[in-house]
Amino acid sequence: MSERISIAVVGSGYVGLVATACFAEIGHRVICVDNDEAKLRTLESGGVPIHEDYLPELLNRHRGHSVEFTSDLGAATREAQAVFIAVGTPQSRTGSADLSYVDAVASEIARSIDEYKVIVEKSTVPVYTNEWIRRVVERNGVSRELFDVASNPEFLREGTAVVDFLHADRIVVGADTDRASDLMKSIYAPLTSGEYYRSSNAVPGPRGEGNAPPLLQTSTKAAEIIKHASNAFLATKISFINVVANICEAAGADVEEVARGMGMDSRIGPKFLKAGVGYGGSCFPKDVAAFRHVAEQLGVDFGLLKEVEKINDEQRRRFFQKVRSALWTFRGKRIGVLGLAFKGGTDDIRESPALDVVRQMLHEGSIVTAYDPAASDRAKELIPPGPQMRYVNDAYAAAQDADALVILNEWQEFAELDLKRLHYTLRYPIIIDGRNLYEPMKMLEHGFTYLSVGRPGLTHTRDAVTPRVR
Ligand code: UDX
Repeated sequence: MSERISIAVVGSGYVGLVATACFAEIGHRVICVDNDEAKLRTLESGGVPIHEDYLPELLNRHRGHSVEFTSDLGAATREAQAVFIAVGTPQSRTGSADLSYVDAVASEIARSIDEYKVIVEKSTVPVYTNEWIRRVVERNGVSRELFDVASNPEFLREGTAVVDFLHADRIVVGADTDRASDLMKSIYAPLTSGEYYRSSNAVPGPRGEGNAPPLLQTSTKAAEIIKHASNAFLATKISFINVVANICEAAGADVEEVARGMGMDSRIGPKFLKAGVGYGGSCFPKDVAAFRHVAEQLGVDFGLLKEVEKINDEQRRRFFQKVRSALWTFRGKRIGVLGLAFKGGTDDIRESPALDVVRQMLHEGSIVTAYDPAASDRAKELIPPGPQMRYVNDAYAAAQDADALVILNEWQEFAELDLKRLHYTLRYPIIIDGRNLYEPMKMLEHGFTYLSVGRPGLTHTRDAVTPRVR
């Protein structure tokens, strides 16, 4: 049996809340700390403020026994053997990560240290942050023997965060002392030993008893860099395939075939080669900028990342032009929109390419009717409903009498639409798909004019110019 460890998690955002639920799920006692009293009340009464598979079930399973919520960081620190910092590290005006929350939390933790603790960076932070945390804690009068700082980056994706945590590709632990690394190894032992997967109500996923996730131990600095470098690399892969898509478009080839051919090379791999409207979300844009800033600070020229960002911005603009090429003008046009979140499977709209495209369409005078299975409420806060902007509750309502339908993220239900019904519902059967969810030939056979990314656009000539007559 693995040891039950007392853990404090500071921050109840995506990372903190998922870590809280998952640490409890693998047998530890977790106190989740936040200074937002309203959020704490929601969490205590069974509410879950984010859309994440398995999260409500796990919090229900462990709330009150293994999971507690509090605003008292001092008390939580005193009870914990390890304190995970999972607060936000937003982008500052210069592009660097704003570490003021981490700094404030480190000082507060320091004031409550009375016996040995490991302070763990879980937020994505630039290299050297562990040293700053160490200095801050020492400045607050805590002696070196009473604490260590470790780095344990997470690689979870929104929407699949719980499975990503419990069935990780790898667990990275950056620790510079044996004492710290031993505690970290004990925390993850239920996963690395395979023990967790034997439990009958374990969350299912790719890992199992004989296929447990490896734990990679590194220096704290290496762990910090692994996180930034991984996200920057994945963003680079996406920008790369988006440029290849643009080449395909110009040459008359299909980027899906090209990506398949590239991905079959095991050195390249098939993942993150999906061309589209560009990446968004709370991580990639911020982390690419922060890593570029880290490089600059260290005197290293990482111009490649500037290019990755430029391509990503350009991809949204290109897509908007594609919509224009199908509609000619925007003023007064009714456009159905599927997808508002930065990707499918989440309610997160941070840095969403979809919202950018919608804003541009509104700016040019279109009337937009939008549907997203989870993100509409959040989108309404940024783009309030009004005469030009309507939110509806299903895909066909978005398409109803529209001059064109624009697909902006990849919820599974957007890829499974009844094409006959869709054709009948639209005023003009024109679809501009920013996520390549359909086969172009199939769409043509169903009478659609179908434009996608990095594939030849197919125009169904008769229907494209003649509105459907009811
Ligand atoms: C990402 C990382 O994957 C995760 O490891 C890290 O911890 C946080 O950042 P997330 O932001 O949840 O996770 O989303 P992800 O699924 O990685 O997608 C990021 C963006 O890239 C989305 O906008 C998505 O639509 C886009 N994307 C992804 C593509 O355009 N093409 C792809 O092939 C993959």
